[in-house]
Amino acid sequence: MTPTPPPNASPSILLKALRREATDRIPVWFMRQAGRSLPEYRAVRGVDSILKVLQQPELAAEITLQPVHRYGVDAAILYSDIMAPLANLDIGIDIVAGVGPVIERPFRSLDDIMRLRPVDPATDLLAMTDAIDLCIHELTVPLIGFCGGPFTIASYLVEGRPSRSHTTMKRLILEEPKVFAELASRLVDIAITTLKAQVDHGASVVQIFDSWIGTLSPWMYRNALQPHLQRLAAETSALGVPVIYFGVETAGLLDDLAQLGFAGLGLDWRVDLDAVATRLGHTVALQGNLDPSILLAPTDQVLAATKSILSASALAEGYIFNLGHGVLPETDPATVAAVVDFVHEQGAQLRRRPLQ
Ligand code: CP3
Repeated sequence: MTPTPPPNASPSILLKALRREATDRIPVWFMRQAGRSLPEYRAVRGVDSILKVLQQPELAAEITLQPVHRYGVDAAILYSDIMAPLANLDIGIDIVAGVGPVIERPFRSLDDIMRLRPVDPATDLLAMTDAIDLCIHELTVPLIGFCGGPFTIASYLVEGRPSRSHTTMKRLILEEPKVFAELASRLVDIAITTLKAQVDHGASVVQIFDSWIGTLSPWMYRNALQPHLQRLAAETSALGVPVIYFGVETAGLLDDLAQLGFAGLGLDWRVDLDAVATRLGHTVALQGNLDPSILLAPTDQVLAATKSILSASALAEGYIFNLGHGVLPETDPATVAAVVDFVHEQGAQLRRRPLQ
């Protein structure tokens, strides 16, 4: 299928920043910009599990547009979930409010992994691509598609629910490396199919949420995950859109992650943007890294923290303002709006008069 470009497909500042080209202001969007912090989201959300909501493309399209209309952010991100592509695979996935993804019979053996068949975009991703078709022409900013990274999805499938320590996952990697490799390889295939379908329907940037990758030591990362991420990076680079890779607590992995060849790297708030930009800002575009909790503070504090990040970003060739993780549900939308305006104003000034 021929990709359908949005009506005003002039190069956006988000795309320029991801190509590490000069921009006249700093692009900004927020992970979880759609969701429980927005009254208009709560008004349409209903009580069903998010996986049920995602079966209603009109609703998913409307929710995708909500933060774009309210905030004037420089990108929409598709309202979906990293578990959504797997929802039709008959592996008993649910997303429980206040908990997260829960798997009926967690994956432990090769037999379990054999249950993970490839995703068929025409059926398994139809609701998702219908949602994209419904919102893409309403957008004057790029639509970001996304999928889960192989470690993060594998961890949910193996642990059976959110885990802090990922111990069962790590034991499987160490005790059954071939079983893990098969699982990771199938998840990379699913990620590629998902991102390709999103791009075919008009997503012009994609982000891989490998949120929990930072739980791995560099040694385990290099042995168990790096080859799979290298394949993911190589195959997604053929999609013709910039790919951002994101995880939290990745300070010890950033140099490795920067070498994978993704266009952009998402940073959490535990790293000093100055230092990362100096070290890696000429090889990869950087995105982040305001602590989401800071948005709960008085606005003057929020803007002071934002300003310090914007100043540090001058050392990166390509930079996108974002949080270090998703917007917290208790965040006041007025604070988010103030940050968007501030990034746009200050970013334009900084671009005119870069800091020495
Ligand atoms: O960024 C966006 O605005 C796009 C939408 C999006 C959602 N989930 C919607 C969602 C994205 C990018 C995700 C990714 C996702 N989902 C990740 C990676 C990013 C991260 O947060 O680290 C993970 C780990 C998940 C798994 C997941 N889904 C969790 C942990 C939860 C929260 C459960 C809870 O209720 O506390 C979900 C549910 C979910 N996904 C919600 C939203 C808006 C809440 C849904 C609701 O309103 O019930």
